[in-house]
Amino acid sequence: MTIQYRDDLDTILYTEDDITRRVAELGAQISADYDGKEIVLVGVLNGAVIFLSDLMRAITVPVAMDLVAISSYGSYSSTSGVVRIMKDLDQSVESKHVLIVEDIVDTGLTLNYLVEYMRSRNPASVKVAAMLSKPSRHKVKAQVEYLGFTVPDAFVVGYGLDYAQRYRNLTCIAVLKPEIYAGPDTPPNL
Ligand code: IMP
Repeated sequence: MTIQYRDDLDTILYTEDDITRRVAELGAQISADYDGKEIVLVGVLNGAVIFLSDLMRAITVPVAMDLVAISSYGSYSSTSGVVRIMKDLDQSVESKHVLIVEDIVDTGLTLNYLVEYMRSRNPASVKVAAMLSKPSRHKVKAQVEYLGFTVPDAFVVGYGLDYAQRYRNLTCIAVLKPEIYAGPDTPPNL
């Protein structure tokens, strides 16, 4: 199969097959852990939508779905932990089992904020499923119960993750060539 955007990519970290297999494993684990319960999956727009839609079909216990959108102040790299909710939950999560579904944990600041925010809504529990994590970039200890894969300290795209809104529809997860983002929007620290 032709890989879209091939010339823009360095290493392919995870293929479509790797991702399919891992998401099925996560779904099975989540289904076992929440046996007899119902989950509210809270997807974080926009990056988590593809992971969310695959993961929810790999889960066999009843699920409800909600979406939040977050905006962090400043550029990609200078995520300060000061984030703003651009789209809030549509439903109350009081007394419900919330599973936050995130694309990637970079510094961990966004996720930390979200976990605290969800806890303040008095749910029965709050857990996190993240497709990717960059441990070497974490600034805070991130709570992630269900992790797809770890990735190195590089800018990655695909499977929902974008650079300047492109590459989300790439079916694999790959490192973007640095020359693609060279310019005023360059993510520093890379
Ligand atoms: P954090 O608060 O630093 O953990 O920021 C996490 C958010 O930054 C993610 O939800 C992504 O939207 C974005 N992000 C971080 N690293 C990457 C990357 O390598 N590729 C694409 N987006 C990224």
